[in-house]
Amino acid sequence: MRRTIDWDGDAVTIIDQTALPADCRVLRLRTVDELIDAIRRLAVRGAPALGAAGALGVVLAAREGGDVRATAERVAKARPTAVNLSWGVGRALDKLDEGPDAVLAEALEILDEDERLNRAASGHAAEIVLDLCDRRPLRLLSHCNAGHLATVAWGSALGVVWHLHARGLVESVLVDETRPLLQGARLTAWELARAGVPYRVQPDGAAAAAMARGLVDCVLVGADRIAANGDVANKIGTYGLAIAAHYHRVPLVVVAPSSTIDRSLASGAEIAIEERAPDELRTFAGATITPLDAEVFNPAFDVTPAELIAAVVTEHGRYRPRGAR
Ligand code: MRU
Repeated sequence: MRRTIDWDGDAVTIIDQTALPADCRVLRLRTVDELIDAIRRLAVRGAPALGAAGALGVVLAAREGGDVRATAERVAKARPTAVNLSWGVGRALDKLDEGPDAVLAEALEILDEDERLNRAASGHAAEIVLDLCDRRPLRLLSHCNAGHLATVAWGSALGVVWHLHARGLVESVLVDETRPLLQGARLTAWELARAGVPYRVQPDGAAAAAMARGLVDCVLVGADRIAANGDVANKIGTYGLAIAAHYHRVPLVVVAPSSTIDRSLASGAEIAIEERAPDELRTFAGATITPLDAEVFNPAFDVTPAELIAAVVTEHGRYRPRGAR
């Protein structure tokens, strides 16, 4: 499968995630404004993929000229929660004084290392899942999309499924549809189908009932920002999942590249949570489903406290906050 986000020598190319699963089309983004628009519309999304988008945004900004640092700042702020976006911008900007070629080389290095790091993180996480769970083969639960499409390639939480499936250790995956934008139903289900992994899509509200019925051995999620103490911001609904998983003694494992850890934040309380447009909830498949002027609460992410998480796993293995047991 082609990279989710790449550079073709003249433009940023992305798989348009708003069109999947009906249409797997590629968009060419030639300007910073086109890239920012794609980030805001979630045509490119997922924390590691946003890291690559941030770095490539600086490549475009350097080619456009003008105040590159100010333009890069606009890219970094296109979405506030995933720290990877500003991390990618920062890494590329650090090369600005060496010229546009150095900026491009750094961005390409981020693209290359992304798959390597995700394979490593999900490989460590697979071993941890096997330690935490006795049942074979495993019944896993996934929320949002933390697969190939959320990264440059391979995936983080879904990468664990790829590792375990290759060893014949996955019975099935329950896929939370993920409201309001259906990243699970549209994107994760599409990836699992392509890989030949048995799965069932469920409404987010069914996850606790699935655990109560004993249908889930382990919950696997990605992360958008991990505070120094191990609190994790991820797609809205993750916190509720974690509470249900804790109650039912089902381990919840978080998988992310270490660029998702923001050591400048002591706890998850300091993480900025993106609020999305009310119409994402007022409408469904183009039709209005609420009273036209319904007030809406539409946070894109929530924060799960570290105490509800069995393990946070990066390419370095298990992340243990300083002072934690
Ligand atoms: O709003 P999205 O689709 O960008 O949210 C994505 C998530 O919450 C993912 O779980 C997270 O970025 C990790 S992806 C490896």
